[in-house]
Amino acid sequence: MSHSAASQPAIARNSRPLTGEVRIPGDKSISHRSFMFGGLAAGETRIIGLLEGEDVLRTGQAMKAMGAHIEKKGEEWIIRGTGNGALLQPQAPLDFGNAGTGARLTMGLVGTYDMETTFIGDASLQSRPMGRVLDPLRQMGVQVLSAASGDRMPLTLRGPAHAAPITYQVPMASAQVKSAVLLAALNTPGITTVIEPIMTRDHTEKMLKGFGAKIDVETDERGVRHIFIEGQGKLTGQTIHVPGDPSSAAFPLVAALIVPGSDITICNVLMNPTRTGLILTLQEMGADIEIFNPRNEGGEDVADLRVRHSQLKGVTVPAERAPSMIDEYPVLAVAASFAEGETRMPGLEELRVKESDRLAAMAAGLRQNHVDCTEGEASLAVRGVPGGKGLGGGEAVKTHLDHRIAMSFLVMGLASQHPVTIDDKAVIATSFPEFMDLMTGLGAHIEAVEAMP
Ligand code: S3P
Repeated sequence: MSHSAASQPAIARNSRPLTGEVRIPGDKSISHRSFMFGGLAAGETRIIGLLEGEDVLRTGQAMKAMGAHIEKKGEEWIIRGTGNGALLQPQAPLDFGNAGTGARLTMGLVGTYDMETTFIGDASLQSRPMGRVLDPLRQMGVQVLSAASGDRMPLTLRGPAHAAPITYQVPMASAQVKSAVLLAALNTPGITTVIEPIMTRDHTEKMLKGFGAKIDVETDERGVRHIFIEGQGKLTGQTIHVPGDPSSAAFPLVAALIVPGSDITICNVLMNPTRTGLILTLQEMGADIEIFNPRNEGGEDVADLRVRHSQLKGVTVPAERAPSMIDEYPVLAVAASFAEGETRMPGLEELRVKESDRLAAMAAGLRQNHVDCTEGEASLAVRGVPGGKGLGGGEAVKTHLDHRIAMSFLVMGLASQHPVTIDDKAVIATSFPEFMDLMTGLGAHIEAVEAMP
């Protein structure tokens, strides 16, 4: 993988107004699931608009290693799946690189197979907790033959001859844990129930239904979701149009808000309500974001966004909104650095276990670039400087193999008085390979810098 090679520093400088129209690459969550479910379903799946980021391609490799046929024809990916219950034991460890979603969902998918599967990844992925997925899998009869300390990767799973259906209440707000149990249920007889007290992104439920799985969701009077899935049914190949990733759109969006005079249009953004918390928060901060051309594509809401520079003001982001914007806090902290007053972000405990400890990484990078902020156990407060006077000019920000930390600080440098440098831009390719070109195309002053010897 490219980011295991020498690091590639990059610098972002105060830029002239950003202008133009961009199309955002496909949603990462939906792209992973497209490869997985297409690789599992009987018959042909066609994927249009797949995100060709490193993370997603790893998932494609894993599905190939377990018997799926995957090829690219023109702009489309064509998959012939194995049929539900018919994945093959991979001949070698599955290497998920940087991809937590790919690794955790695949653990669920293959965990209930009577075969051995080994999972490996890069330093970031190997530091992330996998017990949250292994715990429910153990209850279903899956053996963890080996794992690094604290249930971390590298790890090897062995499924039982017949897995047991369970009722599992997800203990933290995590779509990955929910999804891992639902996917394990696909190869388990009977009905598995997942109880989700706080709703997270619902792509697994929606897409599995589209592939023909017997899955039902009931929401009780307290808002708790009960997801029932019957295993060992038939899944049939689908045509999938992957909408643009709102978590990637967040970077040009915040850039346009903080660079004076900017006026850009971002086309084809997924507007699933479990993913739009950032837009709502920025609007509360006074952002000029016009949502137009709303449409439904392949069962998902999609729209275009016109974004103009805005003077933002600090707000308190409700903790219960966190699941709908969990990947967007780093770039929200950047927006907050240019807002008037304080922005308070509570309820961020999950940020500690992302590709990096994002709370610590953001607080360190902000402080280095002269932003006044306070890092709590599970919170961040940022006191902004409208106009960005005095901001930037720090040492290279440590990105810790985290694509969203890298992109967030490059966005910051576009509006701060002094440049902002990051230690490694290579990791951006995990989710948004087009980032540098797309941003410079809008007028952003971002470039690679010579690595230190
Ligand atoms: C994802 C779920 C979230 C998110 C990740 C993608 C998914 O992780 O941060 O980028 O596709 O299910 P958690 O489930 O750990 O919150």
